[in-house]
Order: sequence, then C-alpha cells, then structure tokens
Amino acid sequence: MNILGIESSCDETAAAIVQNGSQILSNLVVSQIDIHAAYGGVIPEIAARSHIEAIGPVIRQALLNAELTIKDIDAIAVTHTPGLIGSLLIGTLAARTIAIINNIPFYPTHHLKSHIYANWLSGHQPAFPLLAAVISGGHTQIIYMEHHNNFKIVGTTRDDAIGECFDKVAKILGLPYPGGPSISKAATKGNPARYKLPIPKVDNLDFSFSGLKTAVLRTIQKELSLPITTPSYELQEHLSEYQIANFAASFQATAVKILIQKLKKATELFPTKSILLAGGVSANQALRTELERSFNNTHQVFFPEPKLSTDNGAMVASAAYYSIQAGEEPTDPYELDISPRSVIY
Ligand code: KG4
Ligand code: ZN
Repeated sequence: MNILGIESSCDETAAAIVQNGSQILSNLVVSQIDIHAAYGGVIPEIAARSHIEAIGPVIRQALLNAELTIKDIDAIAVTHTPGLIGSLLIGTLAARTIAIINNIPFYPTHHLKSHIYANWLSGHQPAFPLLAAVISGGHTQIIYMEHHNNFKIVGTTRDDAIGECFDKVAKILGLPYPGGPSISKAATKGNPARYKLPIPKVDNLDFSFSGLKTAVLRTIQKELSLPITTPSYELQEHLSEYQIANFAASFQATAVKILIQKLKKATELFPTKSILLAGGVSANQALRTELERSFNNTHQVFFPEPKLSTDNGAMVASAAYYSIQAGEEPTDPYELDISPRSVIY
C-alpha cells in the first residue's frame, strides 16, 4: 500500500511516499528555517505564504523521486492538527484537492502521532507496550501505547515545551534559531557540570520547563555580576564563547536529566517493553546517548534517524498506515476539520 504523506503544520513543507508503513520511496522536506532565522522564530504569516509556494512542487517531486504517478497512490494522509492554522490550511487544502480530483481515500492525521510513528520507518518494529516521549517545539508529552493506534497521555508539560525551552535559552545565549541544534553544537565544547541548574519539582509524570529557562537567565546575570533587571537580550554581548559553551552544556544536561528521570518513573508505573523518542528534540545526540545508557539493559530503545526526528511527510504516511490497519475509515475530504490545538490523538 503506497501512502502519500503531506506535512505543513509549522515551517517545513514536506511530502513523502511510504510503502506499507515503513519503506520510504521518497521523502522531500523544504525547510523555511533560513527565512525565519532572521526573526529569531517562526512568523506564522510568512510560514503560510511560503507553504503556498512550495507545496505543489514538493508533492510533484515526491512522486517523481518515487518513480510513481498519482494513480499508484492508495491513500493520502495529511497533518490536520495541531499546528499553525495558516500553515495547516495550505497542506490540507492541497491534500483534499488531490484526493477529491483523483478519488483517493483521505486520512487526516495527528501531528504528534506521526512523530511517534517515525520510529516505524527504517524497518524498526518497537515491541508493545511502550512509552513514547513526544518532545518537540510545541509539545512535551509521555504517551503510553499498549498496541497500535492506542494513545494514553500519561505526562505533559504545565508550561513551556522542551523544544521551546531550547529555543529560548539559545536566544538568551545569542545562538541562532532553531535553538536545539545550536545549543547541542555549542555544548560539545562546554562542561555540563559547570553550572548547577535546578530540577523542577513537579508531581507525577508532568513537566515544567519555564523555571529552567529563568534559572539559566538568573545564573548568567549572577555570573556576570549584573542586576536581575538586566534584559536577556543584553546578556549575550557580555558572555565569552567559553561561558556560552558551558551554559549550553549545563542547560542541555539538565533538560536531558529531567526527561530521563520522568521516563524512569513512567517505567515504574507502567509495564513497558520499549522506550521511544519522537519529535524535533529527539534529534539531540546527548539525549540519545543518555537514553541508551539509562535503559539499554532493561528496555528496547528507539529513536528516529535524525532527519526523521524533525517534521517530515514520511512519518505522516506511516501513522496513517497503522490507523488504516487498525480499521480507521477514510474521511470525506469535503468535511475536514483543522485545529491549531488538540490533545486527542
Ligand atoms: O518536531 P519539530 O520539528 O516541530 C514541532 O512539531 O515543533 O521540533 C522542532 C523543535 C525546535 O524547538 C528545535 O529547537 C528542536 O525541535 N530541535 C532540537 C534539536 N533539533 C531540533 N532540540 C534539541 N537538540 C536538537 N539537536
Ligand atoms: Zn513536529
């Protein structure tokens, strides 16, 4: 079964064709990072306009690269929630149009579910029951899955998402957007034990990341002997490259520690065979290394290939395949609902 997966929920315009949920025939991602970097974050209006330009060529190229025509496509899957409303609108409009014109079964797909299913690409088959840490720019959740297409949110963030925290700390340190890759690069030259940052005390399996961001800010102000009223954008000019590397490494190590501690606690509460990372932050090498070190003796550990950790169309196609296998009926493309916020998978 060939599924065309389309993704446009944030700042990547992406289309891919995946066979039987795991074999990638083509995978195209056009990133807008260079456009948004100038502003230090994603500008929704610019994102939507860029999707309009890219969506047609990206879908066409995905078919060309797979050496298929639209007649070879058995189903179309598209991200319909959550995301930036203008961005979602463009991908879903393109997907609906193609589905209607060619009479192809149509499957709206949840973005976070797709991130989890990136772990089934490249031939992996994680064993159930499993815990998935969905860690992206907009979300931080621990999901428990007893079988395919069955999602129970057992932990979530009470404020900032972990990726958002990477992005905000990077901004304070004067590192370029997106903050995750910049922090992990800077951290390779730093000492993770140089600054002691607090682990937030949050009950059960929930997270809080806004305090960690503020702790970085206060520690920098203290290190530079500046008053706490000094705005964050004034700090970077006083920081040496050496200090930036140490702050990046100390922050990253603390964020990783918070996540691993919660996953440990989750494995004590739920019988678990596999542990998965999903979402943009799962590209973080320090996190991958620490996850393997912490769980390799007790659980199977999975994370997507780095290029499949961030937004792409292949994961959308994979998620839809397993929904179809679980008996999900196609949606009428005329009836589609999109939603910027959603917690239901
Ligand atoms: O999943 P994604 O591409 O988009 C959303 O659904 O949000 O995730 C983007 C997030 C950004 O916050 C980015 O800074 C973070 O993933 N990210 C990373 C790394 N690569 C991307 N965070 C930490 N380390 C990385 N290597
Ligand atoms: Zn994402």
